[in-house]
Amino acid sequence: MKGIILAGGAGSRLYPLTRVASKQLQPVYDKPMVYYPLTTLIEGGIREICLISTPQDLPRFEQLLGDGSQFGLAISYREQAKPEGIAQAFLIAADFIGQDSVTLILGDNIFYGGDTFQKAFADFKSGATIFGYHVNDPERYGVVEFDLQGQAVSIEEKPKQPKSNYAVPGLYLYDNRIVEITRNLKPSARGELEITAVNVEYLRRGDLRVERLARGFAWLDAGTSSSLHEASAYVQTIEKRAGIKIGCPEEAAFRSGIVNLAQLEVIVRQMPNCEYRAYLEKEVVAEAKRLKQ
Ligand code: DAU
Repeated sequence: MKGIILAGGAGSRLYPLTRVASKQLQPVYDKPMVYYPLTTLIEGGIREICLISTPQDLPRFEQLLGDGSQFGLAISYREQAKPEGIAQAFLIAADFIGQDSVTLILGDNIFYGGDTFQKAFADFKSGATIFGYHVNDPERYGVVEFDLQGQAVSIEEKPKQPKSNYAVPGLYLYDNRIVEITRNLKPSARGELEITAVNVEYLRRGDLRVERLARGFAWLDAGTSSSLHEASAYVQTIEKRAGIKIGCPEEAAFRSGIVNLAQLEVIVRQMPNCEYRAYLEKEVVAEAKRLKQ
């Protein structure tokens, strides 16, 4: 399965923070926001990734992530000239997707806890898999309604009167029909190719699976000044308490076995002296050496 990170958009809600650096490059506590969705994909076993952003911001993502080889990945880049909808990503990346299935993750969605995604990636065969997460303010999101048997019966984008408290987070898995389905979509009233319209089409075909995320799972979206601040506070709290890092792609690559210990040591040695390097040296490299003895 291939992976797309969608990291474009106008960034208007975070202005003036986004005057010179896009939303997904902003810090979430101790690292750039895009590290978190990137780590989610690495942990899920995705190795070929296409990052989509605006023509202005794309060079900065390339500067940050390069060709991905330092994480054992192949990362390529595509421009989205205008923010014409999340689903447009599948048209922009159609040649990258080729004959494969694909997962799309939004560059401002942060996930933490459990192995639901790893399992979903590993078990995926066909159709579409999306997730439902209980929230306080469903009207801000795509909202999924379930029947008594737990089957999804409707999905609506930002409904004024939500039919449930289950929001659809920004991580979606699709089979190869996604490209053809998106090609046949009409732009919505706000002029966008809506991801919710894609999910409604899979639901209509009887090919949509919606998994409810467990209570202990954290989904944060960092799209407003408040949620950005809250996401930072959340990450800091967990990292300080547990002495681990959330959203560390080098660590995820090592633990997934795509970067070996010797390669990780080289990567770490190239970093300046900082807390991030100290963490990788002490908690990952030294720990791995200790366990090997
Ligand atoms: O966060 C999950 C929600 O994301 C879902 O529940 C909704 O169904 C989905 O429509 C989306 O809602 P948002 O209101 O958060 O969408 P927004 O337009 O803010 O875009 C989400 C991210 O995708 C944002 O970081 C910018 C990026 N984006 C968006 C569009 C429309 C692009 O890169 N290009 C685009 O054309």
